[in-house]
Amino acid sequence: MTSNPYPLGLRLDGRRVVVVGGGAVATRRVPALLDAGADVLLVAPELTPALRARADAGRLHWVPRRFAPEDLDGAWLVQVAIDDPIAAASVSALAAERRIFCVRADDRSAATAWTPAVTRHGPVTVAVLGGGDPRRAMTVRDAIRDLLAVRLAPESSAPTQSRPDAATGGRQAGRVALVGAGPGDPELITVKGWRLLTEADVVVADRLVPGLLLDELRPDVELVDASKIPYGPSRAQEEINQILVDRALAGAFVVRLKGGDPYVFGRGGEELLACAAAGVPVTVVPGVTSSIAAPAAAGIPVTHRGVAHEFTVVSGHLAPDAPASLVRWDALAGLHGTLVILMGLKNLAAITATLIAHGRSPETPAAVVQEATTGTQRVLRSTLGEVAAAVLTADLRPPAVVVLGDVVNALDEGPRPS
Ligand SMILES: C[S@@+](CC[C@H](N)C(=O)[O-])C[C@H]1O[C@@H](n2cnc3c(N)ncnc32)[C@H](O)[C@@H]1O
Repeated sequence: MTSNPYPLGLRLDGRRVVVVGGGAVATRRVPALLDAGADVLLVAPELTPALRARADAGRLHWVPRRFAPEDLDGAWLVQVAIDDPIAAASVSALAAERRIFCVRADDRSAATAWTPAVTRHGPVTVAVLGGGDPRRAMTVRDAIRDLLAVRLAPESSAPTQSRPDAATGGRQAGRVALVGAGPGDPELITVKGWRLLTEADVVVADRLVPGLLLDELRPDVELVDASKIPYGPSRAQEEINQILVDRALAGAFVVRLKGGDPYVFGRGGEELLACAAAGVPVTVVPGVTSSIAAPAAAGIPVTHRGVAHEFTVVSGHLAPDAPASLVRWDALAGLHGTLVILMGLKNLAAITATLIAHGRSPETPAAVVQEATTGTQRVLRSTLGEVAAAVLTADLRPPAVVVLGDVVNALDEGPRPS
């Protein structure tokens, strides 16, 4: 009978790990070693394209030949990722002689170390060993991963750095995360954004964030509805900045949840600067922006081979002749590619007239996507010359994205997304 393995977390930063073999097993093992900061020496006559790319990028040292004993010089760990049992046994014997732990892909029972099935949740790593049965380990790992992702995180993983420090009685400084919530479908938030949301003490949410995300917050989370803050737009922004800073300085972990991506017409930069000025640390989690997702949800790729080699995202919240406008509509009219206009419904007649006046064809295909990726999504297809009138007739309303360009019809032969 063999004894139970003794679990350890290896801290491999800058430490030499030798990987023998350049095939499928090595391709799966190497990324986690690199992620742990290991100094990877890969010994193999040939590499898979994925490993080759890492070698070319200087992320690991590749020795393009078969294994030689001196490869183990200075190693802390060896991973044998070859299926030739005689060669594997010889590497493993040499490793044992030098007291270097050795993981073997070909024969787990002959190995001196096993790699666990792993799931990572921010700073938390859960590693599962299945008593020599990798499938059992993976099944247990999957169950734990689901539990952590869906339910356990809100209860158990509240960020320690934003909780009162019970031992000292003091409070540690809080922090802010600017999180992109995606365009509307609650499933389009990123995994990281979702995790931080489940860890928040305070959530400051915009009008356009998916309601279902807020529905799942813990009952003790303070929810600040940023769209209900009174005063004009700039005063409201100052107020929001102040709330972020005040709550964080009081020790809370504040998630500022914003529609789409925080840095695409989201004023995320202003909030970051306000926090930085107050010494509050900020994490930015990008989101799926409506400028790409809304066209996609309507079956429109913003680029398509042979159709559009560029796409430009522009705000239409100011009319083209408004003195404060920063947009060169005349220059945009000269582009051949895709134009995506956010916040453009109110000024659509003036915008389309300006583009046509500066040379863009009135026949250019156009589409408007309202409330994209939600159950109430509406899509209108038209042309540059007619879209403004069509929007009025169809009574389309914000939030909506306008797409102009040949990409609008690029997938007409193919299936539309459901
Ligand atoms: C203040 S901007 C914020 C954009 C956001 N940061 C992003 O990356 O999607 C608001 C505009 O985004 C667009 N928008 C946001 N969500 C949308 C959706 N689900 N469907 C259509 N347009 C949307 C509309 O043009 C809306 O007026």
